[in-house]
Amino acid sequence: MKRILVTGGAGFIGANFVHYLIEHSDAHITILDSLTYAGNLASLRGIPAAQLSTVIGDITDAPLVDELVSPSDAVVHFAAESHNDNSLFDPRPFLETNVVGTYTLLEAVRRHDVRFHHISTDEVYGDLELDDPNRFTDTTPYNPSSPYSSTKAASDLLVRAWVRSFGVRATISNCSNNYGPYQHVEKFIPRQITNILAGVRPKLYGSGHNVRDWIHVDDHSSAVWEILRRGTPGRTYLIGADGERNNHDVLEMILVLMGRDPAAFDTVTDRPGHDLRYAIDASVLREELGWRPAHQDLSAGLAQTISWYRDNTWWWKDAKVATEERYVLQEAMLAAPGLHNDGDAS
Ligand code: NAD
Ligand code: TYD
Repeated sequence: MKRILVTGGAGFIGANFVHYLIEHSDAHITILDSLTYAGNLASLRGIPAAQLSTVIGDITDAPLVDELVSPSDAVVHFAAESHNDNSLFDPRPFLETNVVGTYTLLEAVRRHDVRFHHISTDEVYGDLELDDPNRFTDTTPYNPSSPYSSTKAASDLLVRAWVRSFGVRATISNCSNNYGPYQHVEKFIPRQITNILAGVRPKLYGSGHNVRDWIHVDDHSSAVWEILRRGTPGRTYLIGADGERNNHDVLEMILVLMGRDPAAFDTVTDRPGHDLRYAIDASVLREELGWRPAHQDLSAGLAQTISWYRDNTWWWKDAKVATEERYVLQEAMLAAPGLHNDGDAS
């Protein structure tokens, strides 16, 4: 694979994947990213210009997508609207990017017979009870809860249909919650780290007993690279690293690692429809492709991530102000009777 098109390459996981590819392959990478509030070209600093082309554009732009897909050996599709909280207040961009954008890419890879890998989430399966002994597998029925997860589920189903109806050579991966460098400060772990660095008390939704299955972003990248090279077209692979923790415990770990009182946080209004627990069974990936995570020590991974945010204030400080202003508005909307949405996507 010499020429790889990476959509969403200026986002959190896409940028980490590009860094991973530079280290582990000699492929030439083209990124296609529209630079929404979540995209940041600074996340790609240090990558040799000879190995990277950057195209600022939208995945719903069919002529542009066609032009970029046609010379590619593979497309790895990360671009998405990715934040659950935003999807509750303004779902339209989620439909446009996650559904129409994926459709646009599928039509182009179909036309040019290009290998496609679709990045998705475990949230398509809905949630589990805390005491459920089962974890998600590739046969768990889809049951998404939020506008975000329902649009990701829709995009997965489009990929499956294009495989079956048109013979598109596509794989899908559904991964659990990622953490690591370059993650937008709206997400749980970087939000709390940067709150503490900024002298603000961390914010825990509801009781904090909701469980997420944490994976270091480099383990996500290594799994995607394995699937892209050796996965079976038509298959779905679940990616996870046995990292289940409840939000309260993760927040306590962060506070202690940063030398703070573990009780120094605020409890805030819970997210409507908040999924209780996610948990991934990644045994197919382990058995079929021999993949193993390399970063299962969450405390060590959090310490590395804290150091990164401490050393790279320049990367996050502007986004932090805008993000916290948005959270204030969203909190106010939650406090109003009924979940308000005026349907204006602008
Ligand atoms: P992110 O929000 O950090 O980055 C998304 C990127 O896509 C941004 O650079 C943004 O500018 C770009 N983008 C958005 N709309 C676009 C459009 N219409 N055209 C072109 N580019 C556009 O997201 P992330 O956390 O890096 O997630 C990447 C992918 O991984 C998503 O598909 C997400 O559903 C999936 N995923 C994320 C997680 C997680 O924990 N963050 C877990 C599992 C799966
Ligand atoms: P998030 O990072 O938004 O990812 P997802 O919704 O995809 O799981 O949130 C992770 C968990 O943290 C989720 O249970 C919601 C919770 N959370 C908080 O408690 N406080 C916060 O400020 C945020 C952003 C999330």
